[in-house]
Amino acid sequence: MERRIVSTDLQLEDNETAIRPLTLIEYIGQKATKEVLEIFIKAAKKREESLDHVLLYGPPGLGKTTLAGVIAHEMETNIKVTSGPAIEKPGDIAAILNNLKYGDILFIDEIHRMPRFVEEVLYSAMEDFFIDILVGTGSGAKSIRINLPKFTLIGATTRAGMLSSPLRDRFGIVQRLEYYTLEELAQIITRTANILDTKIDEQAALEIANCSRGTPRLANRFFKRVRDIVEIKYNQSDINKKHCLLALQMLGLDNNGLDELDRKILTTIKNTFNCGPVGLSTLAATLSEEIETLEDVYEPYLLQKGLIKRTRSGRMLTELGINCQ
Ligand code: ADE
Repeated sequence: MERRIVSTDLQLEDNETAIRPLTLIEYIGQKATKEVLEIFIKAAKKREESLDHVLLYGPPGLGKTTLAGVIAHEMETNIKVTSGPAIEKPGDIAAILNNLKYGDILFIDEIHRMPRFVEEVLYSAMEDFFIDILVGTGSGAKSIRINLPKFTLIGATTRAGMLSSPLRDRFGIVQRLEYYTLEELAQIITRTANILDTKIDEQAALEIANCSRGTPRLANRFFKRVRDIVEIKYNQSDINKKHCLLALQMLGLDNNGLDELDRKILTTIKNTFNCGPVGLSTLAATLSEEIETLEDVYEPYLLQKGLIKRTRSGRMLTELGINCQ
């Protein structure tokens, strides 16, 4: 199939664009989501309709933006990409919506970070495809209605619970993305290696997968850094398990796939808070980290690995968490 760049707004490095899958068949993992999306896309195309609005939620790095690009490619439409924090006022979203064409996809990443009064503009846009905007000020101010072409909004969020229910209810398709298995990540790494003309053996791909916290973003990032180290430090064009492990060690990753901050979180709960319980905000302040980083990026992975647990009074180390240090 022709590889088409679906957006002029996606500012990606060349090889970043090349390694992104464009079709559902190329997209590895997320079996349940792919299965339903394939049906909804086929149904919309058969009826020559735009796709219903889609909400993708789940931890960061799971490929929500990539999947939005895949949906656009499969629907053979254009995609316009923006993010919640970039839309500051109703006029910003009105300008974006006003430039959409029939069937276009508008992708809003981190949609939970859009201000509430901006979010409200989306209600009528999503449901009835119009917006009312206020022009002028004071007694001369008047409301103008702008009709919009039928478009598809794809929202992505790490915090589905932070969306207001009127917004959440306007998405006809709501899908939770899951962490990838080691085998799926190894497949993604091997696919990326192929595209970037590098040979990697299966064992090495699994070692990188093991450090990637269930996410393709880290898998691809670590693969590229391992490739740099193996090529320059070990003078090898192919990646085997031995060199791969040395490279991962050089990147500060241990064989549990934990990075420096993971280890710091575990040792802080153990040594400073006597294995817990400790509240997230106290832990964040002790580590000089953002609460959101701990909650969205670090905690889900440590929970999934069974190294910490959440209790009513805070986070605690598990037996495994105490013994893995
Ligand atoms: N690159 C990033 N995410 C991917 C996925 N799910 N499948 C294939 N390549 C990817």
